[in-house]
Amino acid sequence: MNAATPFPARIGLGTWKMGEGDRRDLPAIRHALEHGYRLIDTAEMYAQGGAERVIGKALLAHGLQHRPRLCIVSKVLPDNASRHGTVRACEASLERLGCGYLDVYLLHWPGRHPLAQTLEAFVELRERGLIRHFGVSNLDAGELQQWRAAERTLGITDGACTNQVYYCMAQRGIEFAQLAWQRAHGFCTMAYSPLGQGDLLRDPMVKQLAADLKLTPAQLALAWVLRHPEMVAIPKSSDPQRIEQNLRAADVTLDAATLARIDARFPPPRAELPLATS
Ligand code: A2P
Repeated sequence: MNAATPFPARIGLGTWKMGEGDRRDLPAIRHALEHGYRLIDTAEMYAQGGAERVIGKALLAHGLQHRPRLCIVSKVLPDNASRHGTVRACEASLERLGCGYLDVYLLHWPGRHPLAQTLEAFVELRERGLIRHFGVSNLDAGELQQWRAAERTLGITDGACTNQVYYCMAQRGIEFAQLAWQRAHGFCTMAYSPLGQGDLLRDPMVKQLAADLKLTPAQLALAWVLRHPEMVAIPKSSDPQRIEQNLRAADVTLDAATLARIDARFPPPRAELPLATS
């Protein structure tokens, strides 16, 4: 991994849609931890804190002595992202997660509170040791520029480390210009929903190509995202076998002919598109 990134692995476990009552979630997160996942992504929004609670139970069962090896990412909702609201939201996330700090804390998407207020709160949280790094999610290139400008105004030199965005074969908008900008300005990219929320895996071309390569469709989709060396992907699964197969995709490299077949089915963007959000 690039020395500038806080992430200890290129594939992490996404938890959007967890904590909503699926009884597979707790054993799934424990399974992921026992099988080598070191990165878990969550948010206060997911199941209104339910995802963080189930992660907290899994961390406890796994053994808190392993906590230093892990990277836990959570996010503040835009409505909570005022100067004091961000601090309160982070403390509540830590309470649900049952851990003393977050490795990375993100603004989930931009909202009504000025970016500078969220930023000031992030700096306070970092100074208090409640977060190690901070970043953003679902910001487009213009918003990222505003964010960096706010950091400059506040004299912050070690600012946001990542922008987490929707990115998969069927959602390539960031490739037009944003990805290059993020690289040039020190933002590592976290790809959420790298499996297209599961839909991509039912595409006949994806299924055929994966079979030709002796991969599963999910491994193909993940290896495709990870062809960008600075990118991290966070597929969600509550299924133990899928959790294991997804992690193994980090070892797969796709050749030029495979990438060309994917481009033919899912062409790269020819113009700037609005950023998808969820
Ligand atoms: P499940 O949790 O039952 O495994 P994304 O991360 O792009 O949002 O996709 C998540 C969706 O993809 C979930 O519905 C998840 O279902 C499904 N999924 C995750 N990994 C795999 C896999 N290896 N094979 C098939 N479906 C998967």
